[in-house]
Amino acid sequence: MDAIDVIRAKRDGGALTPAQIDWVVDAYTRGAVAEEQMASLAMAILLNGMDRVEVARWTEAMIRSGERMDWSALDRPTTDKHSTGGVGDKITLPLAPAVAACGAAVPQLSGRGLGHTGGTLDKLESIPGWRASLGNDEMLGVLRDAGAVICAAGTGLAPADRKLYALRDVTGTVESIPLIASSIMSKKIAEGTGALVLDVKVGSGAFMKTVANARELAETMVAIGSDHGLRTVALLTAMDRPLGNAVGNAVEVAESVEVLAGGGPSDIVELTVALGREMLQAAGLTAAKDPADALRDGSAMDVWRRMITAQGGDPDAPLPVARETHEVTAPATGVLTRLDAYGVGVAAWRLGAGRARKEDPVSFGAGIICHAKPGDKVTAGEPLLTLFADDETRFPRALEALDGAVEVTDRGTVDAQPLIIDRIA
Ligand code: URA
Repeated sequence: MDAIDVIRAKRDGGALTPAQIDWVVDAYTRGAVAEEQMASLAMAILLNGMDRVEVARWTEAMIRSGERMDWSALDRPTTDKHSTGGVGDKITLPLAPAVAACGAAVPQLSGRGLGHTGGTLDKLESIPGWRASLGNDEMLGVLRDAGAVICAAGTGLAPADRKLYALRDVTGTVESIPLIASSIMSKKIAEGTGALVLDVKVGSGAFMKTVANARELAETMVAIGSDHGLRTVALLTAMDRPLGNAVGNAVEVAESVEVLAGGGPSDIVELTVALGREMLQAAGLTAAKDPADALRDGSAMDVWRRMITAQGGDPDAPLPVARETHEVTAPATGVLTRLDAYGVGVAAWRLGAGRARKEDPVSFGAGIICHAKPGDKVTAGEPLLTLFADDETRFPRALEALDGAVEVTDRGTVDAQPLIIDRIA
């Protein structure tokens, strides 16, 4: 095989053969196909797409580049959720314990934030002592004891994707639906979960800005799941405004703990319960306890405490608090008609909650608390947002990001998406 022939085939709009896909993914992982050759192929895929057979084979080749985890030693079915990422999306934190409290095992390999969307591991690392890196035996131990584990994916899992994702990031080839779908699904299939629920976000704060694109991504991922014998369901959910009230790291953990204690913002509770029910159903646990009850009766909180403690964290320790705060007040009396997810996400990122490069540290205390959501009545001069940062020089650029993100009108209609837009199975 020759890399140039594979590139030419895709450049000219053809379908790659299974042998070409197996060879090019393997040779790239081994370093036998050069970065510039793979960059060229990724661009040809972005421009000309891949059909269902190609995407399934590409995903399979990326899975085979590394290890595949196996949870058959557990006495309960495994089920997991993956979100395509959003602003204030802390759903995994209450969801994994709630689903475990209903009888499933949740092996959740998570990532760190990059750009304006937060990462689950960054949020959890704001808990003093908590460790993201676990070996496979340790992961199994936490799953056995607590029922859920949230940790970093090891380097042995889909190494082809790790290398290719880094290349796509710097070559303008991230936004290809077949490449995004195969990237996400190769990691989830290699993780060894028995069932998978995808939360595909739609709106300004998400990867997918339109329902049509989100639906295409969801359908591609659901098809990859079924082609690999993995029960997969997707929900398309709103990301035109932030999820919940807190955006950041420690502030999102605190909000998640409120949800685990039976309270918290209604959108977080609604989405946690909806995704939890889908995860249990996909795992075949149709007669299981309801996740809403697990949040109300304290059993999800018990799992959370065991899970955090098992990974070295202290669930009772005070969370980090930023040194400086700044209030943004309502510019007028009326209805909050717009609180743009992207603007709030970029502002939180500039306050220090996110990172610009993979190796940058994050500030655990930085972030934003939203005191009102679209549709709420507000009074001129009342606090609308509280900004948190360790260093007050960060406020001006964060405020610039919020320019145009907030709109209050005296009798405006709120043009918000429904929280759950569609279900794809
Ligand atoms: N997340 C991934 O894991 N891969 C992508 O390609 C995009 C988002």
